[in-house]
Amino acid sequence: MNFRMLVLFSILICSSLMMGQNKAKPWPNYEHQIDSVMSLMSLDDKIGQLNQVAHGWGWGPTQPVSIGQDFKKLIKEGKVGSFLNAVGAKLTKELQKIAVTESPVKIPLLFGFDVIHGLQTTFPIPLAESCTWDMDLIEKSASTQAKEAYNCGVHWTFAPMVDIARDPRWGRIAEGSGEDTYLGSQIAAARIKGLQGDNLSGEHIIACPKHFAAYGAAEGGRDYNTVDISERTLREVYLPPFKAAVDAGAQTLMCSFNEISGTPSSVNKHLLTDILRNEWNFSGFIVSDWNSIGETVAHGISADNKEAAKKAINAGLDMDMETRAYINNLKDLVKEGEVSVSTIDESVRRILRVKFRLGLFSDPFRFCDEKKEATEIGNAAERAAALEVTENSLVLLKNKNNILPLAKSLQKIAVIGPLANSKRNLLGCWEQFGDTNKVVTALEGLQKKYPGKEITYAFGCSINNPEERDFSAAIKAANESELVVLAIGEDGHFSGEASARTSIEIPGAQTALFEALRKCGKPIVVVLMNGRPLAIPAIEKNADAILDAWFGGITAGDAIANALSGDFVPCGKLTTTFPLATGQVPIYYNHKNTGRPAQPDNFFSSKYIDLSEKPLFPFGYGLSYSTFEYSDLKIDDKNISSAETNHVTVKVTNTGKYKASEVVQLYINRNPASVTRPVRELKDFQKITLNPGESKTVTLELNPEKLSFYNDKMEFRNEPGKVTVFVGTNSLADLSGQFTITNSK
Ligand code: GLC
Repeated sequence: MNFRMLVLFSILICSSLMMGQNKAKPWPNYEHQIDSVMSLMSLDDKIGQLNQVAHGWGWGPTQPVSIGQDFKKLIKEGKVGSFLNAVGAKLTKELQKIAVTESPVKIPLLFGFDVIHGLQTTFPIPLAESCTWDMDLIEKSASTQAKEAYNCGVHWTFAPMVDIARDPRWGRIAEGSGEDTYLGSQIAAARIKGLQGDNLSGEHIIACPKHFAAYGAAEGGRDYNTVDISERTLREVYLPPFKAAVDAGAQTLMCSFNEISGTPSSVNKHLLTDILRNEWNFSGFIVSDWNSIGETVAHGISADNKEAAKKAINAGLDMDMETRAYINNLKDLVKEGEVSVSTIDESVRRILRVKFRLGLFSDPFRFCDEKKEATEIGNAAERAAALEVTENSLVLLKNKNNILPLAKSLQKIAVIGPLANSKRNLLGCWEQFGDTNKVVTALEGLQKKYPGKEITYAFGCSINNPEERDFSAAIKAANESELVVLAIGEDGHFSGEASARTSIEIPGAQTALFEALRKCGKPIVVVLMNGRPLAIPAIEKNADAILDAWFGGITAGDAIANALSGDFVPCGKLTTTFPLATGQVPIYYNHKNTGRPAQPDNFFSSKYIDLSEKPLFPFGYGLSYSTFEYSDLKIDDKNISSAETNHVTVKVTNTGKYKASEVVQLYINRNPASVTRPVRELKDFQKITLNPGESKTVTLELNPEKLSFYNDKMEFRNEPGKVTVFVGTNSLADLSGQFTITNSK
């Protein structure tokens, strides 16, 4: 056994001993093993670890080599440290075997893939899941998705997307948790815990909060567009969900395509080193987004990929996804003194550290069990988990005269619309290997729910082509029925990456179809399927009920049928504001007051001359089949110091006739303060379930960190002043009280 083998053997023994201990926090210390591995590496081997290559596409060895690379040769030469889009126990085992037996230093590969809302068992899109406001459920959802990915050879998911989004024209709003920083931070932490479990033990995978940072602030809502925001907005609105993810133990981050006020994230030292490393002590590694290093040439701050490589590695970006800027240029840059070996060593260490933490050095094949893959993918447990999330993500937006749940006496129901029996659309924008054949549509769900009723289906019109319509058949179906369920909205690929819309109204002839059906005189229950807030004032005005089902994933139809029948009582709450019109965008609840807040009787105030400035539905909004009464708001202390925590209690009573869940929400306003503050800010919430007539006193917390903000000196402080609290069922809550922060200890 030569020296190299001896060193490797001792590493394997050492890390396997630690693997068993890899349960508790904080992470075991692998620095000596990392030193040993690095002592075996040439500069070429080190640079190879920084290179991530997109393996073809598709699942298993039959997938096409879409990039034209000889992947096996790259591995044998030690020129690749990670693949994305290599999926499947068999394929990943084959590639890993080459890496750990034939490459120069035999370092295991890392396999990444976009498991955004499920790998084959497709869950609702993340924006829908955020409407559950249920952190335990969200953690369980992420854990279930991680288990499925783990058993397909996937080590690492490029998720969760934690970008705050205030502009529904931006298609990627579908992938995140909406417009609020506090809620988005809670959800980010829940998803990290679900994906990574307890220090990556068991069937868990590495998480990768993205896109770092402020990707959702793209001007005009146009993907990849310029972001120009203040340091205060960056730190108060867009960074906290990433900080929450890092604090929850995220092992990687992905940087964003966009610039931030002149510097693209991929080469942004302030972001990648000053904040992420020096302030947050992040110990994992950062991967670029697809070719984002190379795109700094188009941004106009790199002359070529060589300069891009220099700027990116020196800014602190560790792994290069698909530019090949590092593999092609770093050696020369070292020779020319433009990049130091120590800089490269630091990035290599970070990547090796994560590979050790994932246990790849002790068992490179722990994710490649083909027998388990056969049984663990798309099974009943995963479908059941998806259904629970889908049900809780449904948001009841309108229910005139309590027409829902559907009366049991109904015998004839018309199910109409382009999304009533569509399978692929329900998988949303990151369906990956979602099995379209296994999707339950709204029509199928209702047919299963009501085998004895006469259910008639009509297409009505296409989603987007106004010429493609068959209103007559739809009108006939409506005339022959007692009630219409109308499934309308967007195409599943109208949101997601590179899918900005200039109009967030319902596309095509769908609203015309709704108006035509109204003339039939039958009640219309609209089921909305969408990847973003939609401006639907006409629907809101004249529909009898509206249930927002988003793109609910593989179990969508069952969830919709359970809700419409009353077998499940909707409890979702919007995490984005629904505008009246695209022209109001950006519109979000935690806006500033301005010097001239809108006043109907004051022409010279901040409003529009052609439409209200108010939203169609506000942040936090969602109805139930039951009703809830809020009373007895109490604030523990009328005066506290800046170092103290205050508590707010409120009594909530279920005044309806259904057992139902409610999300109790606490907002604050600080006025006056050393800088202008949002009119309302969500600072705590609690989801409760009450039987009819049952009351519960809910306690909500305001600690110093929640009360702090960046003051006029850009110091993060809980400054003295008055705090007004609002508690209720959405961001317009009017039950309020006040307390004062008396000093600045
Ligand atoms: C895409 C997306 C990013 C994704 C990556 C790998 O361009 O921006 O979210 O994780 O490439 O597929």
